[in-house]
Amino acid sequence: MKVELDRIPPAHQYKILSSAIVPRPIAFVTTRSTDGRNNAAPFSLFNFMGEDPPVVVIGLEDKRTGGLKDTTINIAETNHFVVHMVDGDLAEAMNICAIDFPADICEAEMAGLTLVPCDRVGAMRIAEAPIAFECEKIALIQVGPRRNICLGRATVAHLRDGLFNPETLYVDVEKYRPIGRLFGTLYTHTNERFTLPGHTYAQWSGRSPDDGQNIDAETGRP
Ligand SMILES: Cc1cc2nc3c(=O)[nH]c(=O)nc-3n(C[C@H](O)[C@H](O)[C@H](O)COP(=O)(O)O)c2cc1C
Repeated sequence: MKVELDRIPPAHQYKILSSAIVPRPIAFVTTRSTDGRNNAAPFSLFNFMGEDPPVVVIGLEDKRTGGLKDTTINIAETNHFVVHMVDGDLAEAMNICAIDFPADICEAEMAGLTLVPCDRVGAMRIAEAPIAFECEKIALIQVGPRRNICLGRATVAHLRDGLFNPETLYVDVEKYRPIGRLFGTLYTHTNERFTLPGHTYAQWSGRSPDDGQNIDAETGRP
């Protein structure tokens, strides 16, 4: 079966894309308005796009009732935001923060979360989050009548004590239990894993012995 996406309504395109491109990490984003109101909302159209510089990307749709979401307005006006990663413990609070509260209501407070100041950005950080990235806007790009994409540079990472393994330099997968978004009301845990070591061409073609190193197929680095 083939679907020409530009011949079906956007809502149907959304269903195909959002259920095919899964699981997606969730950026639980805090921002602060120019008059000092704190805002928190989740966005699963999210990922990082590289490490030099450390770039994150978020897809921001307009409100269903029209007009920009508070997150978009605050990023446009202040250039600052914080991306929090969501684990199982934070899922319920994240979901409460997706409610379309009026702009003067602090979602994080409604969800019982604790906001603490950041080091380099004006937005506040959610203390309960396992990982948070302070970010500065690189660009807010309008890609459609109701859609902006935010590119941001992550400047400071806050990792819950014990989550980061200073020997491997990776976040510890056993302690960090992020959830992923599937579609609609469906989410997934990340506790079923398998390994898939990469190969150099020389190893794969048998011209050099496999030295037993687990090469990351994306970066080519062990
Ligand atoms: C798990 C989850 C993921 C979401 N992802 C997005 C997204 O990627 N883009 C978007 O515009 N809205 C997304 N939403 C909806 C926003 O969170 C919601 O519209 C929120 O009220 C926006 O708040 P704001 O107006 O305070 O920015 C998502 C909601 C949930 C629960």
